[in-house]
Amino acid sequence: MGLIDLAAYGPEFTADPYPVYAKLRAAGPVHEVLAPDGQQVWLVVGHAEARAVLADPRLSKSPSTIGLTMLDEEVIGPNLLVVDPPDHTRLRKLVAREFTARRVEALRPRVQAIVDELLDAMAPAGHADLVDALAFPLPITVICELLGVPTADRDRFRAWSDEIVAPTGADAERAAVYGLAAYLDELIEDKRCAGPADDLLSALLRTRAEDGDRLSAPELRALAYLLLIAGHETTVNLISNGVRALLTHPDQLAALRADFGLLDGAVEEMLRYDGPVETATYRFTREPVAVGDTLIPAGRAVLVGLDAGDRDPGRYPDPDRFDIRRDTAGHLAFGHGIHYCLGAPLARLEARIALRALLERFPRLALDHDPSSEPLDWLPGLLMRGVRRLPVRW
Ligand code: HEM
Repeated sequence: MGLIDLAAYGPEFTADPYPVYAKLRAAGPVHEVLAPDGQQVWLVVGHAEARAVLADPRLSKSPSTIGLTMLDEEVIGPNLLVVDPPDHTRLRKLVAREFTARRVEALRPRVQAIVDELLDAMAPAGHADLVDALAFPLPITVICELLGVPTADRDRFRAWSDEIVAPTGADAERAAVYGLAAYLDELIEDKRCAGPADDLLSALLRTRAEDGDRLSAPELRALAYLLLIAGHETTVNLISNGVRALLTHPDQLAALRADFGLLDGAVEEMLRYDGPVETATYRFTREPVAVGDTLIPAGRAVLVGLDAGDRDPGRYPDPDRFDIRRDTAGHLAFGHGIHYCLGAPLARLEARIALRALLERFPRLALDHDPSSEPLDWLPGLLMRGVRRLPVRW
């Protein structure tokens, strides 16, 4: 098909990329594209090929493989998503040690309490922007408490963080990365001065103090950066995309309301049907890599289409149908391989609690906008899939 300019598909592509992905997939599992930000990349759109590429050590996560440096890596430090083994193995072990299933499960009552408080605040108005009222404040409050970040600071880094995952322009992105770097330095210094505490950032600071060889100062800053950003920019879209899918599929909504035993499967289908992370982060070919019949040359940037792969009819029959009872095994929403999402258990816990409480509290919940006269405001770029606002009423 030659080089495909995704920007040529216009705003319709951002609002609903699936028809374009289906057309590309019908022509082959991987294509060279011009992304909306002007970058020339190889985009994988088939499910089996996506899984294979995500687990293939011939692709590196380090931009230095092709002589590039990412702005955030340069300014903040090397995070898990831009390093390969052995550095990746060492850093991931340090966080995984703290990010245990027990620590996540212990958050359950607190997550429920936060959700209940947010729904209490929403209830009297009869309508709300669901992103602002629930989908955003829940994950950011949880990740702040887990890391030990003062909740009052969250508005300071929300704008920076939003800009970094869905940049509106090069200057704005640069300003956001520098702003967040300075904020993280201040935060880490405050934590160090405050002394021992039972939060994740304090635990990582202790590791750094005891054994600086295992965690350098920029690595610590970059871990805090990744956890803060990954901890909320994604779950917000799981809740808002998930609620949007339910409210536009009344039969599925009714089935779930009639039997909350379907809830866990419904959340997995929300992840498959309209996952929060549209493409995985960059990978770079160290050598030529064959994907299907196509050879990606060495030294190229590759994006794996997670949402595209999860609509592959070769893997999921009738993939454009939202069906909370379907078998979603193997969906790509949390990635695959050694970079598989570290926060998946936390994201699932938050989404399940939030959705159930929302549906139980508001039996007449409905969308409160007319898409024909007022299109939704979709996040720009290929990384994130979600809306800035989701008006609902009850
Ligand atoms: C629904 C919510 C979430 C989704 C869809 C999601 C998705 C993903 C995906 C697709 C990756 C792999 C990216 C790649 O390979 O390029 C990833 C990695 C990661 N996620 Fe999540 N995530 C979510 C929530 C969270 C939360 C709540 C946290 C932390 C509290 C988190 C922390 C991380 C970290 C640290 C990594 C990097 C792991 C590594 O490189 O080894 N995520 N996530």
